[in-house]
Amino acid sequence: QLLSPAPLPLIGRKAVVTAGPTHEPIDPVRFLGNRSSGLQGYAIAGALSRLGADVTLVSGPTSLEFPQGVHGARVETGEEMRSATYAALPADIVVCAAAVADWRVEHPTNSKIKKQAGQSPPVLTLVPNPDILAEISVVGPKRPRLVIGFAAETDDVEANAIAKRARKGCDWIVANDVSTGTNVMGGPENRAILISDAGVERWPLMLKDDLASRLAERIAKQFSDDAP
Ligand code: CTP
Ligand code: CA
Repeated sequence: QLLSPAPLPLIGRKAVVTAGPTHEPIDPVRFLGNRSSGLQGYAIAGALSRLGADVTLVSGPTSLEFPQGVHGARVETGEEMRSATYAALPADIVVCAAAVADWRVEHPTNSKIKKQAGQSPPVLTLVPNPDILAEISVVGPKRPRLVIGFAAETDDVEANAIAKRARKGCDWIVANDVSTGTNVMGGPENRAILISDAGVERWPLMLKDDLASRLAERIAKQFSDDAP
């Protein structure tokens, strides 16, 4: 007798994943950015897709290829990431793994800023970028059922992440220690703390791919627990 293949637990579910850094222009050749590689977000998009979810990946500038079966958009700035994320809604699951620049340059110039002998360096005025995770977490009829954020922290990771979850209004926070020397930003491995209603779970150091699979399994379990 043939065993039927394991059913795909997230079939029929729509997921949106943000990943990578954003680049905020200063002028046509310069930008503000950060060290996010996009690896963790891409791995999560792939893992959700393997469990049957229909996954839209909204990616900042990375050198990665979209995982098999995952569609989506490539964007540069935080504002573009926000529009592309909203364009992909409604969804059952949103995972905000992107390292959105917290600030953008208020008035990027259309011409390259040139050095001029004797003049002092330019002064950049920064303004806050939209907080995509906080906006999506706002309670309303269209809120996705499960909104998951990341928290990149250096000191007192757990306390900061618990506070961040409350501030953002998301359901789960996956917290990482990104102190110098942890090799999380850009590296292949990650050590996460999962914070939810159920409390705090410390996961061991593992490959970002394995962390993604574990998170996707947890998401699937959440949907099967509070069926339909
Ligand atoms: N995030 C977002 N939009 C932003 C900033 C952050 O969607 N403009 C999301 C990230 O994708 C992540 C979560 O919010 O899921 C937390 O990001 P983080 O940078 O750790 O938190 P901030 O609220 O920006 O606080 P800070 O950087 O000051 O620690
Ligand atoms: Ca931030």
